[in-house]
Amino acid sequence: MSESRSTAVLILENILKRHIFFSEAKNRDSVAPQDAAFVNMLVLTTLRRLSVLKKELSRRMKKKLPEKMASAEYALYLAMAEILYMNTPEYAVLNSYVDLIKKQTDKYIAGFANAVLRKICAEKESILQNSGGEFFPQEFFRILNRDYNKRAVGKIREAVQHEPPLDITVKKDPERWAARLNGRLMPNGSVRIAAGGRISELPGYISGDWWVQDIAASLPVLALGDVKGLRVLDMCAAPGGKTAQLLNAGAEVTSLDISESRLKTLKDNIARLGLPMPEIICADGLDYLEKFRGVKYDAILLDAPCSATGTLRRHPEIMHIKCLRDIEKQALLQTELLNASVGALRQNGTLLYCVCSISKDEGEKQIREFLKTHRYFRLLPITERDINLFGTESLADLITPEGFLRTLPFHLASAGGMDSFFAAKLQKVA
Ligand SMILES: C[S@@+](CC[C@H](N)C(=O)[O-])C[C@H]1O[C@@H](n2cnc3c(N)ncnc32)[C@H](O)[C@@H]1O
Repeated sequence: MSESRSTAVLILENILKRHIFFSEAKNRDSVAPQDAAFVNMLVLTTLRRLSVLKKELSRRMKKKLPEKMASAEYALYLAMAEILYMNTPEYAVLNSYVDLIKKQTDKYIAGFANAVLRKICAEKESILQNSGGEFFPQEFFRILNRDYNKRAVGKIREAVQHEPPLDITVKKDPERWAARLNGRLMPNGSVRIAAGGRISELPGYISGDWWVQDIAASLPVLALGDVKGLRVLDMCAAPGGKTAQLLNAGAEVTSLDISESRLKTLKDNIARLGLPMPEIICADGLDYLEKFRGVKYDAILLDAPCSATGTLRRHPEIMHIKCLRDIEKQALLQTELLNASVGALRQNGTLLYCVCSISKDEGEKQIREFLKTHRYFRLLPITERDINLFGTESLADLITPEGFLRTLPFHLASAGGMDSFFAAKLQKVA
């Protein structure tokens, strides 16, 4: 256990200092397979509650720890998260972390850590009762506050506090798979199962009957309607969730991505699923489109690179590492990719734009601007009928009056919510 806690300290430090994703930090600090579940739970819980933990620690520290002792601060956050939110026995937390801090720093800092953690244990109930106010760091709150009112921000906050369930997209027979996996059939045909356990050990994984995909991520391709026999360019395709949907629906797909390693994952995924291999192109989409002279596509799916702020439920580090500048940077690239796409699309063809961002700069505003500057494109409103194939619950709230798809973490909250996604369907007209 102490091994996994010291790995967690390194991972947390890397995420917060280098502003990298948890998955990238985990690769750097390689977690032993037997520790993975505990380290995941510990780091993600700490990141979800970091604003409260920071406030409680700073109240008890007269001055900041010197830089060379910074690891003690990260260890303290993890220890506090275990005491407050994971119900680990207090003696186990104290022994383990005080020992760890002593090894990493010195006996004085360890003595201070011991005193802080004892206080946290003694004041646990009152901390939990009074910690309603803090959740989003200031910069992330600013991002939300620009686009959503106070009530919506409150509902987002409520929805992203807990570990999300796992959604899968099945090749066929979703009702049968829901029963087999003890899951819930979602209105779009996804199957929702409780998180936890090894995904690769679930029935249907090795046989390639399904792939992991949040319900929100599966909706844009449904909005395209019947794609059987259509020539579709999946512009930013890896790791291949939407390529798999398109292939499964009978489209003739070209999957393009800038990242060779992510395309390797796409190939492995499509091979596991036993779907026909698409044409695969590793290139910068902008270069590819600039030089494009071939037969034009019936549809282009542009699942553009974005701030990923819509995936906050499963990636709570996002609220600590993303800032407005990141959104502005991504929005510029998205505009370039959108503009470049038009030349490769045939007359009357469909451009489906989507992003897993909660920021309207990357979604609604991006498309309104595109339509102003491209008069020969019109918006094809997405309807609830496009995405609600099974009618088990209403999905009307996911469609805006303009006809955009805009999902938010609190949609279908009683069933476990969903990621935030934006999608718009555009047609190239004369
Ligand atoms: C949101 S992810 C795509 C997810 C994918 N569509 C799916 O459903 O699994 C965005 C992808 O865009 C790729 N990308 C980033 N910049 C690009 C560019 N200039 N041209 C092509 N692909 C790019 C990234 O490598 C990343 O795989």
